[in-house]
Amino acid sequence: MNGMDPQTLTELLDVSVLDRLDRIEDLPADELARSSALRKEGYSAEVTAGLLTQAQLRKDAVKKLGPFAEDMLFTRDGLAQATRLPVAAHHARRLLGEGKDTGGDADDTGESADSAPTIADLGCGIGADSFAFAGMGAQVTAVDADEVTAAIASFNLRHLANASVEHARAEDIDTTDFDALWFDPARRTVGKGSKSGSTARIFDPEDFSPSLSWVIDKAIAAKAAGVKLGPALDHSLIPDEAEAQWVSHAGEVVEVCLYFGTARQRPGRSALVMGDRTLLVHEDDLPAEDEEGVGELGQYLLEPDGAIVRAGLVTALCGPLQARRVHPKIAYLTTDVEPTGPASAGVTSYEVTDVLPAKIPSLRKALISRGIGKVVIKKRGADIVPDQVRRQLKLPAGDKATLVFTRLGDRHVVLLTQPC
Ligand SMILES: C[S@@+](CC[C@H](N)C(=O)[O-])C[C@H]1O[C@@H](n2cnc3c(N)ncnc32)[C@H](O)[C@@H]1O
Repeated sequence: MNGMDPQTLTELLDVSVLDRLDRIEDLPADELARSSALRKEGYSAEVTAGLLTQAQLRKDAVKKLGPFAEDMLFTRDGLAQATRLPVAAHHARRLLGEGKDTGGDADDTGESADSAPTIADLGCGIGADSFAFAGMGAQVTAVDADEVTAAIASFNLRHLANASVEHARAEDIDTTDFDALWFDPARRTVGKGSKSGSTARIFDPEDFSPSLSWVIDKAIAAKAAGVKLGPALDHSLIPDEAEAQWVSHAGEVVEVCLYFGTARQRPGRSALVMGDRTLLVHEDDLPAEDEEGVGELGQYLLEPDGAIVRAGLVTALCGPLQARRVHPKIAYLTTDVEPTGPASAGVTSYEVTDVLPAKIPSLRKALISRGIGKVVIKKRGADIVPDQVRRQLKLPAGDKATLVFTRLGDRHVVLLTQPC
């Protein structure tokens, strides 16, 4: 899965090569110039390529892992699949806060109730989740079936004395030895016959590695467990024993996590919005079905955060935001008052300035007459391709607006809006 052979990794792990990587910004930024400077210094073509790749991956990784990235190694796939650090810290809190079993077992074995809880990270990748678990005090055993990935995780966790890495298959680990289990099964595979090493998404959960049924069996049997999966997970695959929590970070839906045992806070579905502000919405916050109001378009259109939409919890925002749906099947809300307060972290708000026809010629005319020349296009419940529409509109220069293609009752309309 990793796109790096073990020999290249061994060469990269040489102290002098790592030192060169840490000082790579001393060289010209231009890749060709940088490459020839490294070759002149005596590095082989493979090590030079490895250094350039690692330098780029470190830069890319800062977005996910902050400044820690500058001291880490990556594979391209490993970085793509790595958990963002604030989200990994949330996983750690769930497994540690509620996952720490200070009850029977500790007393029976004579262990102090204060000893660090043990966590097995079964499919640790480059080690982002393990980094958070160990950084927050757990005794971590990180396991990966891929040799290069396990070696990279070892390197990345080297400063954390309470983390160790094993190159092994999760299926061969005795999971009963741990206070908590963490699973982030591989859901992408190297494209068959692909020279670029590009990966393809796996759709059948039984083809995840380890398979979802194996993971769920182990998670149900554990004292505490978390399972990270893709946000498009079919709701019918969520076991009754789990809490399913969809998470967005900085406006992007990043995962659904299934929590079991003492890591589970409230059974059912929840959505956690993480970013400048945090919001937790739970299935228990949903109004009764007969109170799920659909109503007239108000002055504001609210676009719920993707985690809330994926969790099926859009109407849980209606009460706190004094909002109603624009359509029973469309995930937009509307209100007459601009959202404020904690629940406003769960929506992006737009002020509606007009309702325009959805047919392109009439829409074009209406936009030009209002001086609109630049549009951001959003859609829900409308069968359009935004880029195509933008090309068809061919607007002359003018003001900027957000167009929302949607439905009000049976009518297809375009809402002319401005972000609040
Ligand atoms: C999605 S990545 C984990 C990412 C990790 N949570 C992080 O934040 O960096 C899944 C990892 O599982 C590993 N893997 C796949 N099958 C495995 C198995 N049967 N046992 C152990 N590891 C496995 C892959 O090599 C890959 O590194």
